[in-house]
Amino acid sequence: MSQTVPTHVAAIDQGTTSTRCLIFDAAGQVVASDRREHRQILPRPGWIEHDATEIWAKVQAVASGALARAGLRPDQLTALGIANQRETVVLWDRSTGRPVHNAVVWQDTRTAALCTELGGTYGQDRFRDTTGLPLAPYFSGPKIAWLLDHVPGLRHRAEHGEIAFGTIDSWLIWNLTGGTAGGVHVTDVSNASRTLLMDLHTLDWDPAILAAMDIPEAVLPRIRPSAEVYGLATGRLAGVPVAAALGDQQAALFGQTCFDLGEAKNTYGPGSFLLLNTGGRPVPSASGLLTTVAHQLGGERPVYCLEGSIAITGALVEWLRDRLGVIRTIEEIEPLAASVPDNGGAYFVPAFSGLFAPYWRSDARGVVTGLTAYVTKAHLARAVLEATSWQTREVVDAMQRDSGVRIGALRVDGGMTVNSLLMQHQADVLGVPVIRPVVAETTSLGAAYAAGLATGVWDGPDALRAHWREDTRWKPGMPEAVRTREYRRWKKAVERSLDWLD
Ligand code: G3P
Repeated sequence: MSQTVPTHVAAIDQGTTSTRCLIFDAAGQVVASDRREHRQILPRPGWIEHDATEIWAKVQAVASGALARAGLRPDQLTALGIANQRETVVLWDRSTGRPVHNAVVWQDTRTAALCTELGGTYGQDRFRDTTGLPLAPYFSGPKIAWLLDHVPGLRHRAEHGEIAFGTIDSWLIWNLTGGTAGGVHVTDVSNASRTLLMDLHTLDWDPAILAAMDIPEAVLPRIRPSAEVYGLATGRLAGVPVAAALGDQQAALFGQTCFDLGEAKNTYGPGSFLLLNTGGRPVPSASGLLTTVAHQLGGERPVYCLEGSIAITGALVEWLRDRLGVIRTIEEIEPLAASVPDNGGAYFVPAFSGLFAPYWRSDARGVVTGLTAYVTKAHLARAVLEATSWQTREVVDAMQRDSGVRIGALRVDGGMTVNSLLMQHQADVLGVPVIRPVVAETTSLGAAYAAGLATGVWDGPDALRAHWREDTRWKPGMPEAVRTREYRRWKKAVERSLDWLD
């Protein structure tokens, strides 16, 4: 039988609202893709869950779909890399491989009271030096503690080694490499750095924090580099090396080839995440940013980054479509917003999950300010888009303060970058150019790059940098006086959103 030479790299991008599989050739070009959405389960205000079994089924479906479209067999894949929504918690039974509860999603705020209580005992920033993160419902640790306390009998089973915890990367690697028949229980360091349980300096779980949150060590996966062969896939992808995992935002930083200190990108998805590479040193933040791991290639030292996380950006456009019915499709928002010259005085602060960076206020709630009878749905559509660019501006200001690095241009990617009106407004409010690359699928690309580096498809960063090409550049055009006035109004609106809960 003739030997097949593997030629392509597959990436799974398991995101908050959908799962995709992209297949890349050795030049970093997309050959084929497939995508499936999964259910958003909203049992109560502020609670958001996913069915982890459904997610695993979607992963298998998109992998098969993308291979079929590419006309490839699994043995023609050199490697598979994973990029995933971060912080979301899955707990499963090690003997059956079945989740013991729906996954608790990163946007879920059910642990707000627990975080306030822990903050009262230890201080809101007690774990910041160790983990780079504030005590907030966003991160995995409090979500694990909540599940152990609320699912009957779970704590006992967890203490006896019967339960496994994983962020989505772990859950997928476990299933890909064999599931109940002996899957590998690992997580990559970039995902582990979002749990609020990992020491950024030792890259290991921190026993004092585990004790403070009452989380048994027996549930935790082993922390591994972002690029190394964790195991061989079984099932539909039988034999393909599972060779990388990165939190999706770190994957996008990698896919944008921001390998050097001072390089930054912003990804516009349901939320937005601006990451700045700070090199081999974790830079502490005094301005509400997160210090986190960018990636670690097998055998090398980790690279760190500063991150400004914004909970709700694209999700606000979906809300306008799904909950208010103002638009029927996402694409409708741009012409609707462009039908008026400005926001008519309206500002929309989408603090649906509280406010993330730079405020970290889980007590904030959404507000619309500046309403008069003059305001139409077109003005509101504009205010919805502008909410994304103003929130990004606040993060860029914080990042420049913390790092001392001036961001001279912003590399962008993600679904919302097809919206030119928004990208122009982003350049206007930042006062710097905004640049989108030709391959805007940077999240999947980053996962594929990491998997390809681990398996020898590419030699190193220089080979990957050569693939990056500029597609569109939006230049700032807003007069400084307008920018300053508008920014002041935005900040006033943010003040109104704070202190909302009793
Ligand atoms: O931290 C949450 C983030 O990883 C989610 O990204 O693109 O799945 O919404 P996305």
